[in-house]
Amino acid sequence: MKKGLSIELPIHSTAFKGKGVGRYHERAVFVKGAVPGDVVKARIIKKKKSFLEAKLLEIIEASEDRISPKCQHAIVCGGCSWQQLPYEKQLEYKRQQVEDHVRRIGKCDTAVNDTLPCMQPFYYRNKMEYSFGPRRWLSDEEIQREEFVDDSGFAAGLHAPGRFDKILNLYECHLQDPISFELLDFVRNYALKHKIDAFDTFEKTGFFRHLVIRKAHYTNDLMVNLVCYFDDQSIIKDLYAKMMKRFPSITTFIVSINDQPNPTATGRYHHVLHGPGYIEDYIGPFRFTIDPKAFFQTNTAQAEALYSVVSKFADIQEADVVYDLYCGVGTLSLFLSKHASKVVGIELVDEAVKNARINASKNGVKHAFFVKGDIKDAFNESLIQQFGHPNVLITDPPRAGMHPDVITQLLELRAPNIIYVSCDSSTLARDLSLLSERYTVNAIQPVDMFPQTYHIETVVSLTLKP
Ligand SMILES: C[S@@+](CC[C@H](N)C(=O)[O-])C[C@H]1O[C@@H](n2cnc3c(N)ncnc32)[C@H](O)[C@@H]1O
Repeated sequence: MKKGLSIELPIHSTAFKGKGVGRYHERAVFVKGAVPGDVVKARIIKKKKSFLEAKLLEIIEASEDRISPKCQHAIVCGGCSWQQLPYEKQLEYKRQQVEDHVRRIGKCDTAVNDTLPCMQPFYYRNKMEYSFGPRRWLSDEEIQREEFVDDSGFAAGLHAPGRFDKILNLYECHLQDPISFELLDFVRNYALKHKIDAFDTFEKTGFFRHLVIRKAHYTNDLMVNLVCYFDDQSIIKDLYAKMMKRFPSITTFIVSINDQPNPTATGRYHHVLHGPGYIEDYIGPFRFTIDPKAFFQTNTAQAEALYSVVSKFADIQEADVVYDLYCGVGTLSLFLSKHASKVVGIELVDEAVKNARINASKNGVKHAFFVKGDIKDAFNESLIQQFGHPNVLITDPPRAGMHPDVITQLLELRAPNIIYVSCDSSTLARDLSLLSERYTVNAIQPVDMFPQTYHIETVVSLTLKP
């Protein structure tokens, strides 16, 4: 069996990154864009001992579950890889994905609950980071044309999957409130009309780099953050005035200057042209300040649902000392503070810790404390002596999961309850298998924070073995 070979196969399930899975000569084959129930023709592009990866060439027989995606870009855009599936199917495949990981990698047989759905399967994001570029991403159909296809021109949208230099020129997007796309379209039309170029990663020329929109869910605050390569006040002032006139609901307008090669959508410095320079929004009864650089849960309404699951699993009692590892800007710490005697958040990013302290103070929470540091160093014996032994320990690490040293610390510490919040069920499963030495898994609850994508958040309740 060679790379390049075209094969036909039925797809029976989904796997990592939402790919469809079939079998060919006893080997699993992963096919991006295929869904269970499809029979597809695909070309082998990667060959490993235990699996193959294949590129979808043709859907020979479409799955009965397939629906037409809402968005014309759904198939090529990395933003929404599961739009061709009805929402109930997405929820079921996400549950199966978690179950597969915890059984296979975690060696855990606790039942996995049905995925908690998101009430708003579109327009749920509070933040979009659009990019501008001088080269647009070509469709498969354009690539296969015999004649030359020009990929130059101003593109405004999202990075093509896996490409830092090509932008998928968007004509619609349904992930954030519709005003978000209208703002992007306005900037694109302005750039085209005034012949102002997008930043070119290779040439280091051009002006427009990113447009970051933050739209609050409950307060209706609306932040526009235009990221430019250089500080040209004549362009900035004119565009700013025109946008404010066309979109009077903008509550704060920021221009960030990123004159460095790095592709981040933040600036080396910024100007606040209108409003306070931040937006505010609620999770539960708590009001949070969200500045342009701050991490904030991307689906505000569903963050409350996620935190409610954590709170239910944690069952915090009045005298409890709660630790919130990887606490970000302290949103979960504050949410849980109501029932606890003390909450201690630990976080690596200085800015986030400062935000967490401000958030606690603005909400009048005096018994939440925030410590800056890497968990594997900062979460140590002297910290425990200072704040007390944890009754409940929340851990919400990034995708990579917890460092082995942190797992060792947890096993030695023996907190009675651990609630693990994870955005990657494969690293969650690996960590659960290590924690199983001293902990029993009581409940596993997948929570859908990102409809139309394969991403799934999981909350797991663990108790110390007798
Ligand atoms: C998934 S977010 C959790 C955010 C928070 N629990 C919330 O709900 O908003 C993970 C957080 O861990 C932080 N982080 C990553 N590695 C870390 C480390 N080694 N030590 C401490 N914090 C870390 C990141 O900066 C990020 O804020």
